[in-house]
Amino acid sequence: MRVGIPGDGMRLTQKVTIVGAGNVGSTTAHCLVERQNADFVLLDVATGVAKGKALDMFQAGPVFGFDSRLVGTSDYRDTADSDVVVITAGFPRKPGMSRDDLLIANAKVVQEVVEQVVKYSPGCILIMVTNPLDAMAQLALKVSGFPRSRVIGMAGVLDTARFRRFLADELDVSVEDVTAFVLGGHGDEMVPLPRLSTVGGVPLTELLPPERIEAIVKRTRGGGGEIVDLLKTGSAYYAPAASIAAMVDSILLDKKRILPCSAYLDGEYGIHDLFVGVPAKLGRKGMQQIMQFRLSPEEDAALKKSAAAVRELVEKLKVA
Ligand code: NAI
Ligand code: 2OP
Repeated sequence: MRVGIPGDGMRLTQKVTIVGAGNVGSTTAHCLVERQNADFVLLDVATGVAKGKALDMFQAGPVFGFDSRLVGTSDYRDTADSDVVVITAGFPRKPGMSRDDLLIANAKVVQEVVEQVVKYSPGCILIMVTNPLDAMAQLALKVSGFPRSRVIGMAGVLDTARFRRFLADELDVSVEDVTAFVLGGHGDEMVPLPRLSTVGGVPLTELLPPERIEAIVKRTRGGGGEIVDLLKTGSAYYAPAASIAAMVDSILLDKKRILPCSAYLDGEYGIHDLFVGVPAKLGRKGMQQIMQFRLSPEEDAALKKSAAAVRELVEKLKVA
């Protein structure tokens, strides 16, 4: 946390802005505000929604015992000098839609939001959430002009959480003892990696037969769609918000956690100039390192297939 003597021009606390006060944005604010490690701004084009939700959450402070500040607004001046900006503005999918169907509508939103954010917080770290995630992160990198360390996409923490949840249920063990790996784009071609997933340190492949693993991998890939089909009016937000909060924590607290994130690859895993999900170190400087490891030929082929699906979207946006 940045420190300074009050009055010397330095802020005592860090500042996090969440753009989009819809389901994901407001739930993220709700997760984060109790942590007391920053002041928060919740921004939406719908001014009343941002202000009303922020005020409501702020009034929970006396009950839960948090003192962090949280304001709602539609004015980007209130976001000035944010350390981290989470972008959730845009349309969610409805039943029958893929994340990719949101491409053109959400690109317009992301373009205008990033321009405004960067104008008031030129030194911030951007966490992109809006779908289709990897393509929106690529657009944000281009519009912001930021280095790749300061533009990170959230998807892998969510996809991994789903994989871990399903594995823990299958094996009747605590989620705390399940580690799981998911690489690739946040789409139907994502790449859950059973070989590198463990339960109490034991390789998953020694604990479950291949057909059960395959069924869980399939459910993980369709995890977002399963929830859309149930909700009918939008997409998931509780697990996404928890996943965003884990990334924000690692950055604000400079924890340097290794989290699966969408990161701009510059030759890593043989992929160039594209956002794809990989394990990365997140600290106060943003995405500080991409962790690389050897993939089997099948895993490599699956990752390349997933990356090709992302590249197709990015080329439609002409931000390759
Ligand atoms: P939502 O519809 O509940 O909220 C979206 C909010 O964005 C609305 O309040 C809307 O007024 C606001 N908005 C629209 N245009 C704006 C603009 N130009 N400036 C500021 N605010 C604007 O949608 P929800 O469920 O919160 O999802 C948001 C996005 O996040 C969707 O694109 C969804 O697909 C994506 N998502 C991505 C996940 C991931 O893993 N990367 C997980 C969950 C959702
Ligand atoms: C999900 O996977 C909507 O992309 C989001 O739930």
